[in-house]
Amino acid sequence: MFVEKVYIIVVMYIDLFLCISFYGPIWSYDDESAWPGGFCKKGGKRQSPINIQTNNVIKDFDRQFIKHGSLKFIGYENVLSSGLNNGHTIQFSTEGYTDMHPTITGGPLKYTYRLEQLHFHWLSEHSIDGVKFPMEIHFVHVRKDLNISEALNKRDGLAILAVFCNVQPDLNENQREASDEIMQHIPLLMRTGRRFSGAILNLRKLLSPKKNSYFSYLGSLTSPECNEVVVWIIFDNPIYISDDLYRLFGKVGIGRHNFRSQQKIKHHQVYQPPDAFITTPKAVIVVKDVYKHVTQFFQNITRQVRSTS
Ligand SMILES: *[C@@H]1O[C@H](CO)[C@@H](O)[C@H](O)[C@H]1NC(C)=O
Ligand SMILES: *[C@@H]1O[C@H](CO)[C@@H](O)[C@H](O)[C@H]1NC(C)=O
Ligand SMILES: [Zn+2]
Repeated sequence: MFVEKVYIIVVMYIDLFLCISFYGPIWSYDDESAWPGGFCKKGGKRQSPINIQTNNVIKDFDRQFIKHGSLKFIGYENVLSSGLNNGHTIQFSTEGYTDMHPTITGGPLKYTYRLEQLHFHWLSEHSIDGVKFPMEIHFVHVRKDLNISEALNKRDGLAILAVFCNVQPDLNENQREASDEIMQHIPLLMRTGRRFSGAILNLRKLLSPKKNSYFSYLGSLTSPECNEVVVWIIFDNPIYISDDLYRLFGKVGIGRHNFRSQQKIKHHQVYQPPDAFITTPKAVIVVKDVYKHVTQFFQNITRQVRSTS
């Protein structure tokens, strides 16, 4: 019983702060100037979403930001989930004992983060070199050692994975996996306030095929109250969704669209793991001189590749 009560409180906090209201939306994508929360109104220093300008991205050979090796995903396969149309998006939340929820760590993440919910934006909120995708999925994780209200006050309290989706009419078997996983659930969530529980989802099918190729920066929530507490991890390799599924999302009752306008670049610095880093054996990384030598070597290679392409 105790565990259940704690869980309900956590759900309420998530509902409050990520604006999943039981009573319908109190803010709208049509009028961002009326969004509640100081950061949304005045604008902070690290607001999201942004356009990622790839020639300003730092390949993190020196491990300034991406300090913790490769990303490690645990338990994304059989996730007990509930679905909800909260008036802004369709959202799947993790259910049941929190110890069973999927976790992520590594890459830019110093701590372990637990998945609370995922939701969809159509069109995408982030863009790469000015190009938006038809859809962006956000996997919202909370630092495991914090409760929600603490997490919403720490610069790295949340980790949000962003996966872009491309739309294609004809998908091969692998490309169809994501659509097949969620297609049956969407018709239950067409109107605001609709919900269901007890679905088992294989969320691995909604993750990018290349899990160690991403952009990362410190930013904010993209909905009220726009807290600057998010480690963003944005995969550059999109997944695919079917044209049918995308058309279905278009009919979901959430207003005209559900993406926040892009924010001015201020204190944002976007990093990317250098490909070399991912394949460099651990033993090399701990020996500093060897590591320096190896990074220099790969920097040289990168330079050569750049100058020949
Ligand atoms: C979160 O943790 C802080 C510090 O431990 C505590 O004061 C606060 O009451 C907690 N909040 C919730 C909602 O559990
Ligand atoms: C990298 O290139 C610099 C000069 O461009 C050279 O001095 C250095 O030895 C090279 N390092 C490696 C590891 O190849
Ligand atoms: Zn989002």
